[in-house]
Amino acid sequence: MKKMPRRRFLRSAAALGLGATAAGRWAQVPTRTPPPGRGIPLVLTSHTNDTGREALGQAWEILAGGGTALDAVERGANVIELDPDDTSVGYGGLPNAEGVVQLDASIMDGRTYSAGAVAALEGIKTPSSVARLVMERTDHVLIVGPGAQRLAVDFGYRVENLLTERARQAWLRWRENLSELDDWGPPEHLARRRRGGGGEVPPHERAEFHYGTTNVLAVDAKGDIAGVTTTSGLSWKIPYRVGDSPIIGAGLYVDNSVGAAGATGRGEDVIKSCASYFIVLRMKEGRTPQQACEDAVEMILDRYRAVGLDFVPPEKFVALNKAGQYGCASMPSGSDCRLTVRHQGGTETYEGVSLG
Ligand code: GLY
Repeated sequence: MKKMPRRRFLRSAAALGLGATAAGRWAQVPTRTPPPGRGIPLVLTSHTNDTGREALGQAWEILAGGGTALDAVERGANVIELDPDDTSVGYGGLPNAEGVVQLDASIMDGRTYSAGAVAALEGIKTPSSVARLVMERTDHVLIVGPGAQRLAVDFGYRVENLLTERARQAWLRWRENLSELDDWGPPEHLARRRRGGGGEVPPHERAEFHYGTTNVLAVDAKGDIAGVTTTSGLSWKIPYRVGDSPIIGAGLYVDNSVGAAGATGRGEDVIKSCASYFIVLRMKEGRTPQQACEDAVEMILDRYRAVGLDFVPPEKFVALNKAGQYGCASMPSGSDCRLTVRHQGGTETYEGVSLG
C-alpha cells in the first residue's frame, strides 16, 4: 500500500473529525516507532559532525566515571563552543550586523530545579559556563550583554576576540549584499527574509546564513537530568537581538522527573511556542521523546495555519527522557533531523523525522 504523506494524512484525519481533542490535533497523530531505550547514563547532542562526537566522548567520560549530568553537558557544550571552525556556536560563530559576535546560552539542572542563562555575551568563548555561573553564583536566571561579560570577568574569564577570519570574511560578504538579507524592513521584505533572502541572492551568500545552535542533554547514572543550549544566534542579527537559546522553556527545558528538550533553528518561533517546555510537558503526559518532538513541529505548523500563513520555520527539536529514550524532529520536510547519542553501547547517529 502506498503510504499517505504525513501532512495529507493529517488533513484527511482532520476532515474525518479524527483527533479533534482539546489538546490539539497533533495529540492523536500516530508517529514513527520510538527507538528502544538505551538505558542510562546517556548523553546526546543536536550536532552530528566530528566535533559533536568529540563533545559526547568527553561528556561520556564524566558520566561513565559516575559524574553528574550537569558536568557532562557543560563539558560537551564547551567542546563545541571552542571549535573555531563551527560558525554557529561560541568562538568562530558568525557575528551580528555590526561584525560583533554576541553569544547566547542556557543551562538547566533538573536535580536542583535551577537554571542560568546569558544573552548577547561578547568576548567569552564558553557562554554555557558563564550561564552556569549565573545559575550557581547568583540568585538570577538571565544576565545580558555587558552585565554578563562583567560577571565572567569577575570570576576570572579573559575577554578575547571571538571573530575568526572566516567569520569576518563571511560578514563582509553579507554586508555587501545587505539589502536582501538584513533584518530591517517592511512586511514584504521580511517575508522574503524569512524565506532565506529571495532567489536573487547568490548561493555563496546563502551558504553561511543560519540560526545554528547546539543542544547537549544528559541523564546520569543516578537518573538526574541536565541540559545546555548554546549559540552565536542568528547570523547578521540586529545587535542585542536575543534568540530562544537563553530563554528557559524555549531553547531548553529540563524536568528531573520527566526528561529534557532543546531546540535549534529560528529562535523567534521557538520563543513564541515555548517549544522545549511543550515537549517536556508532552513527555510528562506519556508521549515518547520522538512523539513529543513531532508534536512540537505540528503545534507550530498549526499555529501558522490558524492565522492563514503557509510559513514553515526551520527548526529542529531533540529530547530525552529519564529512561534513556530519545527523539528528534525537524521542519521543513527534508531538513536535517539527526542527533548524535552516546550510551553504554557506543556512539551513534540517530535519524528522527522531518515534517512540514
Ligand atoms: N536558535 C538560535 C537563535 O535563533 O538564535
